[in-house]
Amino acid sequence: MKRFPVTLRAKAPAKINLSLDLLGKRDDGYHDLRSVMASISLYDDLHIMLRPCKAGRGLFTAQAAGVRKGNLTSLAVKLFMEAAGARGWSAHVRVEKRIPLSAGLGGGSSDAAAVLRALDKWAAVQTAVRRPDLQELALKLGSDVPYCLRGGVCLAEGRGERLTPLPPLPECWIVLSVPAINVSTVRMFQLFDLSGRREGDNVFETVNPHPEVGEIKQVLLQAGASKALMSGSGPSVFGIFDDETQAADAVQTLKPIFPKTFLTVPV
Ligand code: C5P
Repeated sequence: MKRFPVTLRAKAPAKINLSLDLLGKRDDGYHDLRSVMASISLYDDLHIMLRPCKAGRGLFTAQAAGVRKGNLTSLAVKLFMEAAGARGWSAHVRVEKRIPLSAGLGGGSSDAAAVLRALDKWAAVQTAVRRPDLQELALKLGSDVPYCLRGGVCLAEGRGERLTPLPPLPECWIVLSVPAINVSTVRMFQLFDLSGRREGDNVFETVNPHPEVGEIKQVLLQAGASKALMSGSGPSVFGIFDDETQAADAVQTLKPIFPKTFLTVPV
């Protein structure tokens, strides 16, 4: 006898951009990019509860502290269930959020990708459910979602969907610090278009107006980071350390000023 709801669990890692270049604006309004992305050990935990319902009456809801209703996770469930032809199911996703929001760490995209992966595993053991093309669904959800489906270290091109896997990073520690600033990704693309500047390892850094980014970079480099860079459209900044003690010291220095500071490793 089956018990309901069925609960699926999934982990969604944050990503950082080790490099990010924009090659130009496309006819569809997006930008062609070239970015090396890596996943790190800062995770959201997802609990996906599935319950049978009358065919066509499925409700797809999600709840996560600080995330407005109608977020990407519930949309991911809806798109998957429609594409899978699973008409007799409702789903509720509860997200234990640890990845800071709108920080350039791909938290929302990674949550959506984790939903697709978990539902795909579930669909594999259902008789009346198809297994849709996850990459296609991922790109419908957002430009970073195809990368998040795969994870690890990848070169992302096109809108973000053309992925080339790269070797894993050597052993290192990644300190991540997120200043309490609101950054709009769309606004950062607009600022880039206006400036047209393509300098540095992350082109968004040159158009970022927040001094905190430079301040955190300086602390990380002084603490011994071999590289320090803003991630994505910011405002999070990461530093890569060969030495764990130096990384832990950097966390101690930054945490009193920027409470959202984390010590992570590549995953
Ligand atoms: O794909 P996603 O919904 O995450 O993109 C959010 C916004 O970021 C887009 O509406 C667009 O303004 C910008 N974007 C872009 N080029 C990309 C990815 C995102 O211009 N390759």
